[in-house]
Amino acid sequence: MERGVVRDAILDVMGSDPFEPLAISEITDRCQTALGSAVPPSSIRSYLAANTPKVFTRTANGHYALANACDSFDHAVIGASTIYCADAFDWMRLAPRNSISAVVTDPPYGLVEYSEKEKEKLRIGHGGVWRLPPSFDGCKRSPLPRFTVLTDEQRDGLYRFFLAWGNLIYPILKPGAHILMASNPLLSHIVSRALEDAGLERRGEVIRLVQTLRGGDKPKNHEKEYPDVTVMPRSQWEPWLLYRKPCEGTVAENLRKWGTGGLRRIDRDKPFGDVIKSSPTNAREKRIAPHPSLKPQSFMREVVRAMLPLGNGTVLDPFAGSGSTLAAANHVGYESIGVEMDRGYFELAKNSIDPLSRL
Ligand SMILES: C[S@@+](CC[C@H](N)C(=O)[O-])C[C@H]1O[C@@H](n2cnc3c(N)ncnc32)[C@H](O)[C@@H]1O
Repeated sequence: MERGVVRDAILDVMGSDPFEPLAISEITDRCQTALGSAVPPSSIRSYLAANTPKVFTRTANGHYALANACDSFDHAVIGASTIYCADAFDWMRLAPRNSISAVVTDPPYGLVEYSEKEKEKLRIGHGGVWRLPPSFDGCKRSPLPRFTVLTDEQRDGLYRFFLAWGNLIYPILKPGAHILMASNPLLSHIVSRALEDAGLERRGEVIRLVQTLRGGDKPKNHEKEYPDVTVMPRSQWEPWLLYRKPCEGTVAENLRKWGTGGLRRIDRDKPFGDVIKSSPTNAREKRIAPHPSLKPQSFMREVVRAMLPLGNGTVLDPFAGSGSTLAAANHVGYESIGVEMDRGYFELAKNSIDPLSRL
């Protein structure tokens, strides 16, 4: 059979649903159906091998997809950042292996807090996992999700969510790539367990020192009876979990081959440290990007910069929100990719990345 005929059949099959990566056996079957005759799997295999990665991507589970399959999702390019409107799990299934140099992300935690139902309650202003903290100093505070209301089943769901996430991110990371993930003291142990079970190495935690309004309350409806009691400590820090895909060989060998494995120093005499003083996100940034979980640029720039040891590579934020990671990456001169599922936040990110990065 002519090579051009096989090539056209493969491209038709792969293009019919660019979101679906296929095994070689499935591609062969579909080509045979389309051509009405037997196609030797060896011709399919050699065509795919000869044209990967230019035309095809070998995906995490060894299937093939069109190389630009991720670009089938709605997306926008802003400076050196590309933001996709997609479910991160679908996006990761299509992304090329060993292509991401670092992940910096602030994921959804309750799993429920960004569901349509909870977002509606947040908009209405009462009920659900979002609580409105008390105003003080004449300042109105942003709503915060309440993680203490999660049931055992939801905690188990959280573990399974991060295990599935870890299993999908692992193959698309370059060996030695770091993941820095925002967490909170009530749930970080569950996320850590899941990331370790996915094969990632724990490298420590970065502590963001920040005065929050979480905790520090007197017993609800019994404040007068127990005026000297706090139910939980007032939280004054935020843990960011640091994980790494294992290196190939030594750190030096991995740096040489993949450009990853270590962290970028602040300067030659000053290593990146794991406690960073930070303020809550300021009003100017919140006006540009009114997302309920917006992280401050000052902190994001410091951590994003540190994640590429040689200053080269692509930083991914699979839960991009309004794009604060991408804005920080643009500011420090790195390439970045963001994925955001909610169309409203995706549109917000498109408009916020550039002004945030210029601040
Ligand atoms: C905690 S927020 C991140 C906010 C971000 N740090 C910022 O500064 O704007 C998490 C984001 O993940 C998004 N999200 C939740 N599940 C997702 C999924 N499966 N794929 C992509 N985005 C998702 C939510 O819509 C939300 O905007």
